Amino acid sequence: MQLYVDSANINEIRHAAALGIVSGVTTNPSLLAKEDPSVDVSKRILEIYELIEGGHLSVEVVSTDTDGMLREADEILKWFPEATIKIPMIEGGLRAVKELSRQEIPTNVTLIFSATQALAANNAGAPYVSVFVGRLDDISLDGIQVVQDVCDIWDTQQLDSQIIAASIRHPIHIIGCAQAGADIATVPYKVLMQSLKHPLTDAGLQSFLNDHAKMQAEKAKLMAKN
Ligand code: G3P
Repeated sequence: MQLYVDSANINEIRHAAALGIVSGVTTNPSLLAKEDPSVDVSKRILEIYELIEGGHLSVEVVSTDTDGMLREADEILKWFPEATIKIPMIEGGLRAVKELSRQEIPTNVTLIFSATQALAANNAGAPYVSVFVGRLDDISLDGIQVVQDVCDIWDTQQLDSQIIAASIRHPIHIIGCAQAGADIATVPYKVLMQSLKHPLTDAGLQSFLNDHAKMQAEKAKLMAKN
């Protein structure tokens, strides 16, 4: 399973990209709104694209009607031809996905909360379907089970679009999505960093370093004697 960073923060993306563990970035209007409002969005997106060296980068539209979405997609593609256009899972969005797919423009359908929505997005022509996990858990539904349902259907039906698990809240979600068979998990920076840590790694490294230092000190003592 590939990992993307779910962020619009340049420092977070720079750090995650330098570790070599991510192959893409997803942004959304809420993530962009967390950033400095004076930042030029197109400049920021192009900076992010440079950091991920040509990896996947989804840019979301904010229109809610098909024509508006298509106009926005057209505008985005003028300054960023490699963009994957992120479209909400609403009827107008499906119509936009159908048209963009006809023009061979990649789309990522977002705000998917059920297997039937994922199926519709796939059938409209989206190469990426984003299934939200954490927001389902928030309302006492099982987000990982929905990812599992989508993956099972994709296997049975041999469907092509890539399943992105989104709205990831903790490292156990990453494991659940990988076990279910998601192609990609798009993970907030903080969760990504948490997922790299284990207290036994830190304790183990400390004891290796202590033992090495002890051995060096003993060696030095022996050499001083001789
Ligand atoms: O990629 C969608 C994701 O950003 C939503 O996450 O935590 O706002 O549910 P969250």
